[in-house]
Amino acid sequence: MAVQRTVSAQSLSPTEEQANWSLRPQLLDEYIGQSRLIERLRIALQAAQIRKEPMEHLLLFGPPGLGKTTLAHVIAHELGTRLHTTSGPALTKPGDLVSTLTRIEPRDVLFIDEIHRMPAAVEEYIYPAMEDFKVDVMVDSGMHARSFTMNLKPFTLIGATTRAGLVSGPLRSRFGISSQLDFYSDADLHVIAKRSARLLTLNLDNDNVLHGLAHRSRGTPRIINRLLRRVRDYALVHNNGVVDTAVVDAALKLESIDDLGLDNLDRMYLKIIATVYDGGPVGLEAVAATLNEDAGTLEDVVEPYLLKMGLLARTRRGRQLTAQAQEHLQLRSTRLGTSKPALFDQDQSENDEV
Ligand code: ADE
Repeated sequence: MAVQRTVSAQSLSPTEEQANWSLRPQLLDEYIGQSRLIERLRIALQAAQIRKEPMEHLLLFGPPGLGKTTLAHVIAHELGTRLHTTSGPALTKPGDLVSTLTRIEPRDVLFIDEIHRMPAAVEEYIYPAMEDFKVDVMVDSGMHARSFTMNLKPFTLIGATTRAGLVSGPLRSRFGISSQLDFYSDADLHVIAKRSARLLTLNLDNDNVLHGLAHRSRGTPRIINRLLRRVRDYALVHNNGVVDTAVVDAALKLESIDDLGLDNLDRMYLKIIATVYDGGPVGLEAVAATLNEDAGTLEDVVEPYLLKMGLLARTRRGRQLTAQAQEHLQLRSTRLGTSKPALFDQDQSENDEV
């Protein structure tokens, strides 16, 4: 299917990336939410500054759109150094990594997005780089092949992943700080939305008009900033640029976003489990095949928020809808002979997290 979703937490285009730039915080003090992580980073940064060393290597994991890249920029900015950005899939061979590492200046930050997709052959090279700021370089090939060890400038590696479970043990253990990014609370998203509205010079009817928007942004700053631009356009066309509650509601309705922030793909995902698989439990691959969607995309992008909202349970035997999901969709089990949602007659022991 691969539809473009207004509530996708992934970045939709380079243009959107650019639009988000102006809205991103530059400093820790401007960063809203993730308070525990921000406090840990503040201490790590200050300690590094006092010791005149790079900050410790940092592994960030969590669903897309929660600020992993933004934090890497903030950290480099706070250190007053440069950020070098690459990704696991872009580092196809050790030489790609070596050429990136050799461009690093003292205390710079190297950001590797999707670090779980870095090939094993490249990963081997990153261990000595992280531990001792050294890297093995091969010269010549065949009979004349030789390797020598090159000293690197001390740097901080920030690895980001949506799949913490796929980062190998040896790689994970080399990060000094490791943290999950959580979904943002409605209150934090409201503050982010008001900050973005100010930067985009939106004409807000009153101080609380963005409350509903915060509630329907899946706990994700990237989504609220995207929806804010849809609301801004709608207000300009229909309400002389004034953003009031009616404008917010109408703009979101046009995007098919419901009261919980679910879009068509979320609802189709839930409906398929409810109707085709009788509420579950069902394997992710089966749902993905029925939806004609990539299983990895569903796992990374659709499921985390449904799990967080208590609409979905991951059991040992597969995915299962909860009573809240049945209620939200106003669906009843299609199972013959019962009008109860399928979940209600499942054994509780099957509901353990996997
Ligand atoms: N824009 C996007 N994410 C943000 C955050 N966490 N704090 C402030 N502004 C943001």
